[in-house]
Amino acid sequence: MNKEKVTTETIREKKNGPEQIIALTAWDYTSAQIVDTAGIDIVLVGDSLAMTIRGDENTLGITVHDMIYHTQMVSRACQRALVIADMPFMSYQLNEVQATRNAGRFLKAGGAGGVKIEGGMRMASTIEKITGAGIPVMGHIGLTPQSVHQIGGYKVQGKSLEPAKELVKDAKALQAAGVFSLVLECVPSELASFITDSIDIPTIGIGAGSGCDGQIQVTADVIGLKQGSVPKHAKKYTDLNHSFMTAVKTYAAEVTKGAFPTEANSFKSSDDLKQSLEKEDI
Ligand code: KIV
Repeated sequence: MNKEKVTTETIREKKNGPEQIIALTAWDYTSAQIVDTAGIDIVLVGDSLAMTIRGDENTLGITVHDMIYHTQMVSRACQRALVIADMPFMSYQLNEVQATRNAGRFLKAGGAGGVKIEGGMRMASTIEKITGAGIPVMGHIGLTPQSVHQIGGYKVQGKSLEPAKELVKDAKALQAAGVFSLVLECVPSELASFITDSIDIPTIGIGAGSGCDGQIQVTADVIGLKQGSVPKHAKKYTDLNHSFMTAVKTYAAEVTKGAFPTEANSFKSSDDLKQSLEKEDI
């Protein structure tokens, strides 16, 4: 594996190369260290952590302050991967000045190498301002979870002709606005391949089939961190929830029956201390 730091340029170059872009989310130092050491190209501090880590119902409640806190931990851990921070709901929608200022905070205070913004054409001029300030932006279209109330649920987008045409226009508008890559979430595979072939910047799919230039997943899903099933577009590569639960129950059972701690987990006193303790002279 190439140990050189991944940059937005490395990601752009992968558009024309044989290798896929591989991306995952992380939320703290430990998760980011594992993902980075495994050689993942992009570590996204996704606002999905509001749901997977904080237990929120959706991603709307998380703040810039919260996201910077998580971004700092992730940035500290990543030696190679490009760290991208999700800009939370209402941190970039009000106006371009607010958006650019908040985006800058993720680089200055969070240590990120760029930000991700949800939305197509309607976000293009804001994204142009942010990229104009020297801040790399990853676009995100298709299912945009921050608009869950407007979309009416977590549904596949662009399944029929007219909405699909809008997504193609969105992708082209974001490319013109200067995004260095584009997340396509929950769109039909054929449409994702068409968009990928229509633009010069790399697409990174989640629930968008294998025709994109790369893939991203929520790490909590791929490691089975939470109880229950994962979305159709994800795959559990391990069941960490089960392993965690088994370890906790075994620990509790061993403490209950006196099997833990053993001598191997304990510390010895010096001879003079032992003698004093025996004589109760302490
Ligand atoms: O917040 C997140 O984890 C994301 C990915 C699903 C792309 O935006």
